Amino acid sequence: MPGRSRPDRGGQMREQGWSAPQSAALYERAQRSIPDGSSRSMLLRRPHPIYVDHAAGAWVTDVDGNRYLDCNNNFASIIIGHADPGISAAVAVRMARGSAFSLANDVEIDLAELLCERVESFELIRFCNSGTEAVMAALKAARGFTGRPNVIKVEGSYHGTYDHAEASLGADPSNWGDVAAPRTVPYAFGTPTSVAHEVGIIAYNDAEGARVAIEQAGDQLAAVLLDPMPNRVGMPDLEPEFIAAVRETTRKVGALLVLDEVITFRLGHGGMQTLAEIDPDLTTLGKIIGGGFPVGAIAGRTGPMETFVRIDGDRAKVPSGGTFSANPITMAAGHETMTRLDHDAFARLDYIGEAVRSGLRELFDRAGLEWQVTGRGSLFRVHSHQRHIRNYRDSYQSSDEKAVVEQFGLRMQANGVYFIGDSLGSLNLATTDEDIEHFLMAAAASLPGG
Ligand SMILES: Cc1ncc(COP(=O)(O)O)c(C=O)c1O
Repeated sequence: MPGRSRPDRGGQMREQGWSAPQSAALYERAQRSIPDGSSRSMLLRRPHPIYVDHAAGAWVTDVDGNRYLDCNNNFASIIIGHADPGISAAVAVRMARGSAFSLANDVEIDLAELLCERVESFELIRFCNSGTEAVMAALKAARGFTGRPNVIKVEGSYHGTYDHAEASLGADPSNWGDVAAPRTVPYAFGTPTSVAHEVGIIAYNDAEGARVAIEQAGDQLAAVLLDPMPNRVGMPDLEPEFIAAVRETTRKVGALLVLDEVITFRLGHGGMQTLAEIDPDLTTLGKIIGGGFPVGAIAGRTGPMETFVRIDGDRAKVPSGGTFSANPITMAAGHETMTRLDHDAFARLDYIGEAVRSGLRELFDRAGLEWQVTGRGSLFRVHSHQRHIRNYRDSYQSSDEKAVVEQFGLRMQANGVYFIGDSLGSLNLATTDEDIEHFLMAAAASLPGG
């Protein structure tokens, strides 16, 4: 049985105490050359980040030899499994021919064709290196296509680290204003004040609020940026009236709908837009389509996608490029991954996701905890309250609520599950039924009173 905690004969987990002295020492060293010790703030867990040694399938081993069932999967970017032999082989074949060139490569076309065949709204696609970059490029394309400056986004929704896309990501009760017309709250210190004029904020699932905001923005609005199951909003269900209002009103004022499927593309063969019958103008992608390598993409209707086309061989309306964009290693890993993700694969991902969600609900009931779990497909999110979550404000945690889910995540870690308690849970295809049992046993032992 993998992991440091093992079930005893009675099926109980026994926490053996978690220790990771080698990770602690590496973190100590890292802080001398890297601000905060890591280039990724999200890895800074208490008491220190865990340093990976290697992984296989659904399991990760750290430098101290601790093993964890991976229920984060690099924030939902690994979907087939770690160190998958098929992906490794596809990468090795390409690596043997060189990794990066200022010459075009044919796998870019293979992956472009595969993705465009899958999704009705993907008439054209262009690759970049991250979801952040994809969102940035999509907003630029929307501005270039419409000739308008402003965008509207959802309060609390994460779309990467671009100033405009970050607006109101960290809004809180002291600054968020009226829910019917939320204030635009800058995220990073030093954000240009113009962001407050250029980005409007709506509450998720507020159809009327969206309609009013879009109509008011009118002929100054380039796009509405929307994630169809925003993680940091608590993974609420998308209400049909809301998406209908956004789609209808953007069309009415001549603005684009940019759907951010960087995460939700892992929910089905054609992403969430196929499942929920959404018809976006542009879609941003990332994570799974790179098969474990850095990636982003902008896909969509020919009109706005043609803002990337050079005019008479000269500069495009929206010039774009990138030294490593569409590099053959990422494209090969992405192509192998997306080819393997057929309907059966998504059915299995739905099954294991539902097993975790329903198993957790049963555990919360049994423990008399007023907790809940949201999510769909291979994604889930735990909340230590039972407020009905329709928007960011419903899921916004008090410091006590946050502390208790964080503690749950840390105890899961000690019980052999890598799960960041107050972040998204994400499962990969290599997760077996026994792994789910391990997860639920670890959860039972890690909940308050467990
Ligand atoms: C919905 C969404 N959009 C964009 C991004 C940014 O992607 P990346 O981290 O690849 O820049 C993320 C990252 O988590 C995301 O969840």
